[in-house]
Amino acid sequence: MQYQWYPGHMTKAKRQMMEDLKLIDVVVELVDARIPHSSKNPDIDTMANGKSRVLLLNKADLADREKTAAWKTYYEAAGYYVVTVDSKAGFGIKEVGSVVALACREKTERDRRRGIKNRPIRAMVVGIPNVGKSTFINAFAKKAVTKTGNKPGVTKGKQWIRLNRDVELLDTPGILWPKFEDRAVGLRIALIGSINDEILVGTELGFELSNFLTKNYPGLLKAKYGVEECDDGNEMLLRVARARACLKKGGELDVEKAAGFLLDDFRNGKIGCFTLEIPDSPSPDSQEQG
Ligand code: G4P
Repeated sequence: MQYQWYPGHMTKAKRQMMEDLKLIDVVVELVDARIPHSSKNPDIDTMANGKSRVLLLNKADLADREKTAAWKTYYEAAGYYVVTVDSKAGFGIKEVGSVVALACREKTERDRRRGIKNRPIRAMVVGIPNVGKSTFINAFAKKAVTKTGNKPGVTKGKQWIRLNRDVELLDTPGILWPKFEDRAVGLRIALIGSINDEILVGTELGFELSNFLTKNYPGLLKAKYGVEECDDGNEMLLRVARARACLKKGGELDVEKAAGFLLDDFRNGKIGCFTLEIPDSPSPDSQEQG
């Protein structure tokens, strides 16, 4: 589903998030492993202040494996528990339950010392649109034992999924708003297909993608489309259009169509597995900076 974020939407989402956060112990935050920084909403750090934090690098099947490992190290250094996940195929899902329990062990210990037994840890999934929240919850729920329905003392209408003896997950995810005031961030979110292509013109995206690929993965476009590579994105799109016989009615090359091909192939992992950004140092996402 595509979302347009207006101030009204954001205020409403924020209010709902603050309400839901009151019910939970641990925030399970999903980001897209291809753009972990750009798909992460920094406001959640302030909103979830004091909660345990688990970060899932989802869609890892589409990302560059080495860079995913680098991002994992980076976010662990920033204080998160991190799991690499492919929610679509179910990889990494099982590990999340134990990592959530680990992230909350201090709380569990505290409860035990106070004589509180069998109070499950409550978790909530959050993330910007399209990072895979619903897919993850579905994958998780399949592995989980039961849905626990409404309970006394819990806000009416809330459904919890019992993950194991110790952990329950709120079955509706918290939708965060993407932060694309920064052009580079907006561009990357658009490249992975998480905002409407109409916001950024397809040819512009194709142009940027072609530049990124020729610079960072030379030889790849040649191998895929049989075109000679150059560092001019427009020219590259023309070459792809020619190779793919993308023509307009009068026989003119259809650059927009070629950009569409390129973007689709990229988004579906048909060209390969890519990560569009690498971690900076020091961490801009450190929880301490909340
Ligand atoms: P959301 O709730 O955060 O908005 O995201 P959602 O689960 O709807 O997932 C958005 C898209 O991302 C879906 O594709 C979903 O299948 C895909 N997806 C989720 N997790 C993964 C993953 O780990 N790997 C890959 N490769 N894809 C993932 P879609 O095209 O919208 O639907 P469909 O192709 O599943 O029909």
